[in-house]
Amino acid sequence: MCSLGRLMAVMSGAGSVPPQLATLARSLRTSSLRDLFATDVGRADSLSRTLSLGDCELFFDFSKQLVTTQVIEALFSTAHERGVFDVRKQMIAGEAINHTEGRAVTHVAMRAVSDSTAPASLRALAEVSRREVRETVQQTPAHNTHVVNLGIGGSDLGPALLCDALAAMRPPQRSVRFASNIDPLDLDRAIEGLDPRHTIVVVCSKAFGTTETLANARRAVAWLKAGGVSNPGAQVIAVTSQPDRVAASGLPVGRVLSMPESVGGRYSVSSAVPLAVALGFGLDALHDVHDGMRLVDEHFVGARDADNVPLILGLLWWWNTAVLGHTSVAVVPYSRALALLPAYLQQLIMESNGKSVDRDGRPVAVSTPVVWGGVGTNAQHAFFQMLHQGTQVVPCDFVGHSAGLGASHSDHDTLVANMIAQSQALAFGVTADEVGGAATLRAHRATPGNRPSTTLLFSRLTPRALGALIGTYEHATFVEGVMYGVNSFDQWGVELGKHLAARVAADINGTSGDATGADAGATRATDASTINLVARHRQWRNGR
Ligand code: F6P
Repeated sequence: MCSLGRLMAVMSGAGSVPPQLATLARSLRTSSLRDLFATDVGRADSLSRTLSLGDCELFFDFSKQLVTTQVIEALFSTAHERGVFDVRKQMIAGEAINHTEGRAVTHVAMRAVSDSTAPASLRALAEVSRREVRETVQQTPAHNTHVVNLGIGGSDLGPALLCDALAAMRPPQRSVRFASNIDPLDLDRAIEGLDPRHTIVVVCSKAFGTTETLANARRAVAWLKAGGVSNPGAQVIAVTSQPDRVAASGLPVGRVLSMPESVGGRYSVSSAVPLAVALGFGLDALHDVHDGMRLVDEHFVGARDADNVPLILGLLWWWNTAVLGHTSVAVVPYSRALALLPAYLQQLIMESNGKSVDRDGRPVAVSTPVVWGGVGTNAQHAFFQMLHQGTQVVPCDFVGHSAGLGASHSDHDTLVANMIAQSQALAFGVTADEVGGAATLRAHRATPGNRPSTTLLFSRLTPRALGALIGTYEHATFVEGVMYGVNSFDQWGVELGKHLAARVAADINGTSGDATGADAGATRATDASTINLVARHRQWRNGR
C-alpha cells in the first residue's frame, strides 16, 4: 500500500489501535519486565494458565509478555468490541464467515462428536470423513509398507508435522514420506529406495488442480508402472473436495476420500487430509490428535476470558504486532519432534492473517505479522544473536516438554534448561554495569532485555498434546484475525503468482504463441526483467 493509502488507513481507523490500548502501550515505555516482576511477586502465577488433557498437562507462561493486568483487561474488552465472540459463534454455527468465497468455516466441526453444539449437517460431514479414513486404513493391505504423501501447503505441512512428531513417540506401522515441491528432486528423494509394489501414494489436494501436486502424482504413477505395478489405481488414493477433477485428471485413482470445501487447507488437520498419518501410525494416533484438538475447542468456546488460553495467545500476538509494532514473531520449539512446527505455523498464521484489507475492503491500519523460527537449541547458534541484541524486538513463542523423547534424560534436561534460560535472557537481559569485565567491551556484552516471550511447557508430548497445540494455534490465529478485522479464511494473494507462473512457464517452453508464429518464447512477458530472466534461463537450460 502506498504511504498515502497507509496514512488514510490509520486515519480512517480500519482495525486501528483503540486509544485506551495506545495509552497503556505508551505508559509501558517507561517500565520494563524487570520492573513488572519486581513490583508484582505474584506475576508468574497470575499470568500463567494450565490446561489438563487427561494424559498430560500444558502450561502456558505469559508472564514474560510486556503486559499488565490492565492491558489484558483492555484486550478482552477490545476483543468483545471487535466481535471475536460473535464471529466465533457464527463459525461454530456454520455461517458463511469466509464471505469472499461464500463459505462456512468448519474445521472445528470436523472434530466434533455427537453431543457437540455443531449443527447436525456439519457433524454428518465429520462422520463421513472419519468413516472414509477408517475404512481406507482397515482395507489397505498390510503388504503395502510404504506411504508417499503428495500435496503442498496445508495438504503437506500438517500431515508432515504430525508424522515427524509421532515418529518420536511410537514406531510407525508403515514408513511415510512426503513430496510437495515441483522441484523434481523432492519426489526423487521421497521414492528413493522404496519398492513401488508395496507403496501407497496419497494425492492430497483440496482443489485437485494444484500444479505441484498433480505433476508429482503423474510422475509417481509413472514410477509405479515402471516398477511393475499393473494396476496402479489400487495403490493411489486421493483426498479432495473436488472428486470430479480426480476423474478428469486421468490419473488412475482407486479410492477418493472427501473433504468439505468449507475446511481450508491450512486448517485441514481435522479432515481426511492426514490420511497418511493414520496409515503410518494407526487410526488411534490420529483420533488422539483430534481428541486433543476437540478438548481445546471446548476450552476455547467454554472458558471464561481470563482463563481462555487461545484467546490470550491470539490477543498477545495482536498486542505485540499491532500495538507495540513488533512486526515479526519467532516460534522456537525446543523439541526435535516439533521441528516442523515453525513451517506449519508460517502457513497457518500468515496465509490466514497476512492481509492488507479488512472484511469490508478497507486498508488495514496496522502491521500484520511475519512468522518465522527454527528448532532450539540449533536456533541459538543461528539467529538468537539478533533476538538478544538486534535493533528489532522479535517476540518469541517457546515450546517444550518436560518428558524427553530421546534416549538421554540428562541431555533433555539441558535442552529444557536452554529454553527457559533463553526466555530469561530475553526478558531480563544484563546491563553494562552488571556484565563487568573490560570497560571497552561492556557495551558489546550488555543485552537489553525487555524482549517479550510466551513459553508453552507440556508435561509430555503425546498425540493429544500435539492436537491441542495445533488447535490452540488455530484458535489464536482466528482471534488475531478478528482483531485485525480481516477474513482469515481466504488467500487471494497467492493467485496472481500462480497465474503468472503458468504464463512464464509457457514463455520458457516457447508455447505462449505470438502473432508471427515465430519462436514464441519470451513473447508474453511484459516487463524487461522477466523477459531477461526467461531468455537467460532458456539459453542456459539448453546446455543441461
Ligand atoms: O498456497 C495456496 C494454497 O491454496 C493453500 O491454501 C493450500 O493449502 C495449498 O495451496 C494446496 O492446495 P490444495 O490442497 O488445493 O492442492
